[in-house]
Amino acid sequence: MRTHYCGELRKEHIGETVTFYGWVDRRRDHGGVIFLDLRDRSGIVQIVSDPQRTPDSYEQANALRNEYVVEITGRVTERPEESLNPRLPTGEIEVYADRIQLLNAVRKQLPFQVSITDSETVREDLRLKYRYLDLRRERMAQNLQLRHQIVKAMRRYLEDLEGFIEVETPILTRSTPEGARDYILPSRVNPGEWFALPQSPQLFKQLLMVSGLDRYYQIARCFRDEDLRADRQPEFTQLDMEMSFMSQEEIIELNEKLVCHIFKTVKGIELQRPFPRLTYAEGMERYGSDKPDTRYGLELVNVSDIVKDSNFKVFRDTVINGGVVKILPIPNGNEVISNVRIKPGGDLFKEASEAGAKGLAYIRVRDDGEIDTIGAIKDNLSAEQKQEILRRTDAKAGHLLLFGAGDAATVNKTLDRLRQVIAKEFGLIDSEKINLLWITDFPMFEWNAGEKRLEALHHPFTAPHPDDLSDLKTARAQAYDLVLNGVEVGGGSLRIYQREIQQQVFEAIGLSPEEAQNKFGFLLEAFEYGTPPHGGIAYGLDRLVMLLAGEESIRDVIAFPKTQQARCLLTDAPSGVDVKQLKELYVASTYKPKS
Ligand code: AMO
Repeated sequence: MRTHYCGELRKEHIGETVTFYGWVDRRRDHGGVIFLDLRDRSGIVQIVSDPQRTPDSYEQANALRNEYVVEITGRVTERPEESLNPRLPTGEIEVYADRIQLLNAVRKQLPFQVSITDSETVREDLRLKYRYLDLRRERMAQNLQLRHQIVKAMRRYLEDLEGFIEVETPILTRSTPEGARDYILPSRVNPGEWFALPQSPQLFKQLLMVSGLDRYYQIARCFRDEDLRADRQPEFTQLDMEMSFMSQEEIIELNEKLVCHIFKTVKGIELQRPFPRLTYAEGMERYGSDKPDTRYGLELVNVSDIVKDSNFKVFRDTVINGGVVKILPIPNGNEVISNVRIKPGGDLFKEASEAGAKGLAYIRVRDDGEIDTIGAIKDNLSAEQKQEILRRTDAKAGHLLLFGAGDAATVNKTLDRLRQVIAKEFGLIDSEKINLLWITDFPMFEWNAGEKRLEALHHPFTAPHPDDLSDLKTARAQAYDLVLNGVEVGGGSLRIYQREIQQQVFEAIGLSPEEAQNKFGFLLEAFEYGTPPHGGIAYGLDRLVMLLAGEESIRDVIAFPKTQQARCLLTDAPSGVDVKQLKELYVASTYKPKS
């Protein structure tokens, strides 16, 4: 019978006889004395066995190897002064093993050492193929525990303090437009018809408000077939919420309290409320982003009005044609950033061009206060214009000013990207900081140049700002995103709850009344049976856990994640299926493998 977990043992247990189970993390033979680090999910404890003090276990201890599974009974003893280990919570004690029972051995060579320290890296494909071994490692085990603690804190807060009810919504459903491609499944019993896996429970949670549920939440699995990145998985989890009869302010307040509760419970951190806010327009203007990392400065400066009358044709034409010219001012940039890095072929030029920029003009402020520029800028900006630029950017000796010129979206994307790269390189990011930020007043729509139509910035169920109803196309949305250290961790909105407005929004995004009826008739109909005003939000649980765990990728906080190619290396999914299965589904593949 287990009396303790390995990681629980402390000084106060000295003298007790204890029994625990675990895996051999490491085994060391110090001239006839065997030391075993025994690991279970709670941590590691040191076991000692030698022929004098523990004659009954010595032979067994000697035969153990890494990752063998054992049951051990022994006496908790104080460690001698010289072997105290302050890095281990159990580092003041060790256990003399009176009895060791081997429960299972390792029969194949391990693909990697489980007990590896963090500084040694194992290839991620190996870690994912043998994920069950990877999850034995302390860092991963802690990440899963943290994830559990976070979910528990969410449930406790929402259920016990705010009266939310968890409701499960279907996985086999119709497609919900959240902007990504759907995963679809053929229906065997309805030949030729398809289910879609939910991109989010958006429409069901709104219908639950129509039902009078009042406060809903769900730890909801969502599926999106999109290009993957470190913070995107095809299958991910949301904390999804919806509530009736609440204003945007009330929803934001409740959510701030929820976030404070999570940080306090799992990290012991007291966050300051209210969280800062920035409108979408301000975020774009000052940071070129709707999810700015505000842990450091490097704010962008708009100089369109200064350069629009200059002789520099590129800048002048850009502004005349409705574009912008903005600057990323970099204090002490001269020292570190050479011309080679900003010119074609250079690393910063490459970053800029990947964001769509055609070039990177610059001004350097020399140590004597004189300014250096390249080619065309030099001769075509007047002395006053240059002085005005220095004044507005607050540029001092040593400053490097990088210019972005073009349409606002490209300029913002370019300078946002450079801002992040430079903050990292210059060590400007304080990793201890927790900067939470609401972004509000998003536009309802953005222009999809490829499809030549407006598309909903959030989703088409977001309510327009009541002051902007006269021109829906340029209206602000009653939407809010929560950003944590430059990562979008949540997003939500007040919803449309009147049929006419919903129809107008469908029209604005180019859905004909027939298409709207065909796809969303059930929602439009529901709006006619007494729908309460409502709103909600969804958090990316994986992203939140990633940030709280200090990880760089959500793969490290998901037990069985997919690779960047959307594959599960452990089960080797996706995989082919029997022709018989396809036949039953009336599906045939048109894919022809390249020979
Ligand atoms: P949205 O699409 O903004 O909103 O998603 C909410 C949050 O989910 C996270 N997220 C992801 N996390 C991992 N992998 C992905 N592929 C991924 N996509 C999104 C983000 C994001 O902020 N129904 C609305 C919510 C609402 O309006 O209530 C929705 O899904 O952290």
